[in-house]
Amino acid sequence: MTDNGQAEAFVEFDRVQKSYDGEVLVVKDLNLSMPKGEFLTMLGPSGSGKTTCLMMLAGFETATHGEIRLNGQEINNIPPHKRGIGMVFQNYALFPHMTVNENLAFPLEVRGMGKSEREAAVKRALDMVQMGEFGNRRPAQLSGGQQQRIALARALVFQPELVLMDEPLGALDKQLREHMQFEITRLAHELGITTVYVTHDQTEALTMSDRVAVFNDGRIQQLAPPDQLYEQPDNSFVAQFIGENNTLDGVVSEIGNGTALVKLSDGSVIDATPVNVSHAGEQTRVSIRPERVEFDMSRLPEGAHTLKAEVKEFVYMGDIFRTRLSVAGNDDFIVKTRNAADQVRLTPGQTVEIGWKPEDCRALDAD
Ligand SMILES: Nc1ncnc2c1ncn2[C@@H]1O[C@H](COP(=O)(O)OP(=O)(O)O)[C@@H](O)[C@H]1O
Ligand SMILES: [Mg+2]
Repeated sequence: MTDNGQAEAFVEFDRVQKSYDGEVLVVKDLNLSMPKGEFLTMLGPSGSGKTTCLMMLAGFETATHGEIRLNGQEINNIPPHKRGIGMVFQNYALFPHMTVNENLAFPLEVRGMGKSEREAAVKRALDMVQMGEFGNRRPAQLSGGQQQRIALARALVFQPELVLMDEPLGALDKQLREHMQFEITRLAHELGITTVYVTHDQTEALTMSDRVAVFNDGRIQQLAPPDQLYEQPDNSFVAQFIGENNTLDGVVSEIGNGTALVKLSDGSVIDATPVNVSHAGEQTRVSIRPERVEFDMSRLPEGAHTLKAEVKEFVYMGDIFRTRLSVAGNDDFIVKTRNAADQVRLTPGQTVEIGWKPEDCRALDAD
């Protein structure tokens, strides 16, 4: 802890920019500070700059501008193998001609560790990923999931303080992927490893991470814990990229006391929380989650505005009902309701009244 009570930064990106061709910046202005032991995920669409950031931290690419620090030390000029960083990639990158034991011993040999110490470390790492019986096999004799476990063990075998993972589970089927997500977070927390994890899968990011950095177009759009990212998106991109989301376009007609009135294209008015708007007359896109829309107007605060909606589709999903509505010209407005004993099932063609609490509806940038 520092004097001002903030956890000391273990990994820092300070005004980092990166261009591969000297013209286009693929990383525009990256500022990021991670305390020791944190599990941070870089999430974003393909091409948003995630891998580039990981490669600069690992030392395989250099920053065009700015500074990267590890444990307070600038690392721009330290070669990759001296940074003490473990890495896991999607394509495993195991040596095919070596056995599992030899694959794991290799990073230890490079570091000059003696034979008996090496054997103990390899055994410990294999046990961590429940692959203790597979030391004498070659990668080709293992399934995809087993190879990925070995790749993970190899990244952990020299007990790095920092592990970087770039879409490590992308090649696995859904069930195995979910199991490995759980295994990776468990190991990271048990061993106290600081982790930077890259994925384009938002569910993976939300379920695994202490914090998520949402990337788009070479910039972090928002950096926050999963619940905050989902419930309080800072802008339209984040609202749309994380989870299911409804949007309505309109113009701010009144603003004050922490609420905004927004007039929609069909003339109706709704209540919202102003986030990226500050005055009347501004264009806005409001964002509301499907599970925060109410059909029961008695649950809304006094004076709340409501809307007429037409039911387009009703889908029974077991635990929830998923109803698609037409609202102010948006035919794809989704409402999710819990399948409770008294919950009404709507019929296509029916007209209903909907509403929401102003704090559940965010007035964001119209982009
Ligand atoms: N070695 C490279 N040389 C030139 N351009 C690259 C290189 N690696 C990545 N890029 C470009 O940089 C941008 C960011 O890529 P990347 O960091 O791989 O994004 P992500 O991992 O989010 O998909 C993309 O436009 C990509 O084409
Ligand atoms: Mg990538």
